[in-house]
Amino acid sequence: MKHLLSINDLGADGINEVCRLADLFTEVSQRPIPKVPALRGKTVAMLFYEDSTRTRLSFEVAARRLSADVMGFSVSSSSVNKGESVRDTVNTISAMGPDALVVRHRSAGVPHQVTGWTSAGVINAGDGWHEHPTQALLDCYTIRDRLGSVAGRRIVILGDIKHSRVARSCVMAFTSLGAKVTLVAPPTLLPPAVDSWPVDVSFSLDAVLSDCDVVYGLRVQHERQAEALLPSLREYTAQWGLTVDRAARLPVGALVMHPGPVNRGVEIAPEVLDQPNATLNEQVRHGVAVRMAVLYLLLAADPDLHPEGEAS
Ligand code: NCD
Repeated sequence: MKHLLSINDLGADGINEVCRLADLFTEVSQRPIPKVPALRGKTVAMLFYEDSTRTRLSFEVAARRLSADVMGFSVSSSSVNKGESVRDTVNTISAMGPDALVVRHRSAGVPHQVTGWTSAGVINAGDGWHEHPTQALLDCYTIRDRLGSVAGRRIVILGDIKHSRVARSCVMAFTSLGAKVTLVAPPTLLPPAVDSWPVDVSFSLDAVLSDCDVVYGLRVQHERQAEALLPSLREYTAQWGLTVDRAARLPVGALVMHPGPVNRGVEIAPEVLDQPNATLNEQVRHGVAVRMAVLYLLLAADPDLHPEGEAS
């Protein structure tokens, strides 16, 4: 596999392979020196045109734990502010010879376009409303870690689905592994083509809560104009928020997940985030091992540098 643009590039077998490798890299991450030489000599460039905390930092940590070099790129301090196009920026960075570009952009399809402008492998770190495949992978890994498997699980994805690239990638990943997914959202925050998605849709959170294994909350995406589609945030929380009362009605052991960043008190109550069944920090931790697995799959050529080898 040369690029990771969509969860469909992997399919169920690919997702399982990423999870298997992530088990090895979780073990690596627990070593006193959490580093293996697998990608020594490789360079991974970050090309983030949109804000990010978790995704960017975890790709950087993942690359370093594999002994790759990291080229940072920050839009706010680059020639993008002088009007340089994405294409020219990619050309410039490519001339320095990176092996992979990790790309986040506010427009759907940019990572795909970038593949035409560079010989490096391209990883989609979130493109507009389209996809965020490594988020879905770390979510599969988290569910598998906590519940044993994704297959057969009843997963409720709750909230601003229309604007969410995470929801798109998660629906593909969860259903391809055999989970049953129910979307719960106000009608204005459902995507127009939802009828063609392999999911059920419910307009009553209360009706589905007592019968699920995972509630996956999504951020109300203010920057993508969700407000205009909602009466008010207070009413949103009253009808669609995972409040303390609602969380208490979840079956014992059901997980509360969220990709972050959270609007505390809007889509999820702060108290619910502190409960032991909330997996937000685990998701972040697993993100490093899962991104190590993805970088390894895309870039490792030398079998002697297998992750089970010694730390460098
Ligand atoms: C998400 C994103 O940026 O797509 N965050 C993330 O990567 N963990 C979700 C969001 O911004 O709501």
